[in-house]
Amino acid sequence: MAESMRGLHRSHRCTEVSSANIGETVTVMGWVQKRRNLGSLIFIDLRDRSGILQLVFNEETVGKAGYEKAESLRSEYVIAVTGKVEKRSAAVNENLKTGDIEVIAEDIRILSESETPPFQIQENNQTKHEIRLKYRYLDLRRPDIQKNLMLRSKVAYLMRDFMMKEGFLEIETPMLCKSTPEGARDYLVPSRIHAGHFYALPQSPQLYKQLLMCSGYDRYFQIARCFRDEDLRADRQPEFTQADMELSFVDVDDVLEVNERLLKYVFKEAIGVDIQLPLPRMPWQEAMDRYGSDKPDTRFGMELHDVSDIVKGCGFSVFTGAIENGGSVRGINAEGQATMPRKKIDKLVEFAKGYGAKGLAYLAVNEDGTYKSSFAKFMTEEELAALVAAMGGKPGDLLFFAADKNKIVWNVLGALRLELAKDLDLLDENQYNFLWVTEFPLLEWSDEENRFMAMHHPFTMPMEEDWDQIDSNPGAVRAKAYDIVLNGTELGGGSVRIHQDDIQEKMFEVLGFTKERAHEQFGFLLDAFKYGVPPHAGLAYGLDRMVMHMVHADSIRDVIAFPKVKDASCLMTQAPGTVDEKQLEELFIKTTEVE
Ligand code: AMO
Ligand code: AMP
Repeated sequence: MAESMRGLHRSHRCTEVSSANIGETVTVMGWVQKRRNLGSLIFIDLRDRSGILQLVFNEETVGKAGYEKAESLRSEYVIAVTGKVEKRSAAVNENLKTGDIEVIAEDIRILSESETPPFQIQENNQTKHEIRLKYRYLDLRRPDIQKNLMLRSKVAYLMRDFMMKEGFLEIETPMLCKSTPEGARDYLVPSRIHAGHFYALPQSPQLYKQLLMCSGYDRYFQIARCFRDEDLRADRQPEFTQADMELSFVDVDDVLEVNERLLKYVFKEAIGVDIQLPLPRMPWQEAMDRYGSDKPDTRFGMELHDVSDIVKGCGFSVFTGAIENGGSVRGINAEGQATMPRKKIDKLVEFAKGYGAKGLAYLAVNEDGTYKSSFAKFMTEEELAALVAAMGGKPGDLLFFAADKNKIVWNVLGALRLELAKDLDLLDENQYNFLWVTEFPLLEWSDEENRFMAMHHPFTMPMEEDWDQIDSNPGAVRAKAYDIVLNGTELGGGSVRIHQDDIQEKMFEVLGFTKERAHEQFGFLLDAFKYGVPPHAGLAYGLDRMVMHMVHADSIRDVIAFPKVKDASCLMTQAPGTVDEKQLEELFIKTTEVE
């Protein structure tokens, strides 16, 4: 039977008890991790979120009734124990923080019993994630997840601490917003009062933080929940948390400077990692050319080489065809991999096709100088030698080439480069390579929409030096936008915003908005800008991603208390669910299809 804790006070968390307390009486409370009976002694490992403490029960000290209670304990029972701290009688357990002491129980209460849990509560549990997430409240008892969430709490605290000291104000922005279609798909919330009208949950506080700048709150900060109805991946959840900021009277360098100091502070205080400042910067074009990615992992080389000029006259039509179609031929050098088995190469070809490649050409330079290749027969010895030289190839190297439109070539080789690095174990998880990627294109052509779309969002400032090309060559205009990249992940991003009517109007025109539509959607912002708007800029971090990197988790699920799975459902609560007909009626909603 569960007992009350009347009159009892927890004096310590499990691992707050130490050899400094020897001789003292303490009261600890927590979950039974393990019970061992040893003759007339019972040992209990007691667990709370701080860790584990060994309790010892013998009849002389705890009494007959107490001993019997201890005998009845099973995993996950919740108990309160009062007893005396002693030096361990047996050998010290080096693996435990409390490994040199134990508590000799004098009193025990069983606060709650437990059924046998569906899986054992322990670190590095191999249980399938479906089961873990269904019983997330148990999964969250695991020490590794608890460590993650404790670190997450600390990171949020450190960020607030830093931002407060730097003069940022934390201001909350609404969760019930107006739907703005540019960007990901919105989560909608129907209105009961306005038939047929919907709020949208915020994808980010973007527009509100810009309005706050108009209102004079010149440094804003928020740890904000954001919602995006997009396909989920290991580093994407439908609801996630941004550490979001906006600053007035600043340009790119000011934003990067304060953020570098923020990162340095947070990484040092949270996980003891020293970041060297200033962080490296790389324009977007260079990132694509060298790494095939706008979020390059710079912990290893294997950079891309454009060999279009070398092969443009060769006899291999795959290469020449791609170039004639306005594309390029680029390659990467997997150094020392010439003896890679054919099977493995075939697998990489399939991998490349998954990223849109029509094929992947390879050339192994054998130790004796001969080649093993899928295309060497189409080229002369001289052409091959020039190609190998351009790739920095030496005997023993394996070269891969993709020929296609630039976008596909970058995508394929960027992904292949990472895949090879994983495979060849080139990634050191204790190395933290930060990189600013800057000068993103302002616009991106969408074949689907048959128009230019804003690469970041429609309020991003173009670079002054490119603005004169906005009509003649809009695709070439670069933006004052920047991403902070860590080991190949986009940790955060932001931009300088447009604060001039004429530029904003032109931007909407290029994006294919009519004046009316721009006003319908963003009227409040455009109006606000009529009454004195300071130049402003900002940035938002994905807090989940940041913590994920700090703890080396494979998925952001491991740093979110109650995450969703791939189909955006919650396995524990079964959300989303159906609702009563009456609720729908109140909201003026009829569903067209019900399971
Ligand atoms: P952006 O869309 O780049 O910028 O988002 C900022 C950062 O948020 C994180 N993030 C996500 N994390 C988890 N799950 C998701 N579905 C998800 N989507 C984004 C990423 C990303 O870098 N308002 C702008 C910022 C600005 O311009 O100031 C914005 O939202 O780490
Ligand atoms: P094929 O002549 O189509 O059999 O192709 C010969 C070699 O070129 C094969 O190894 C293909 O995988 C490769 N290949 C085909 N298309 C491409 C491409 N777009 N880029 C790079 N290699 C390709």
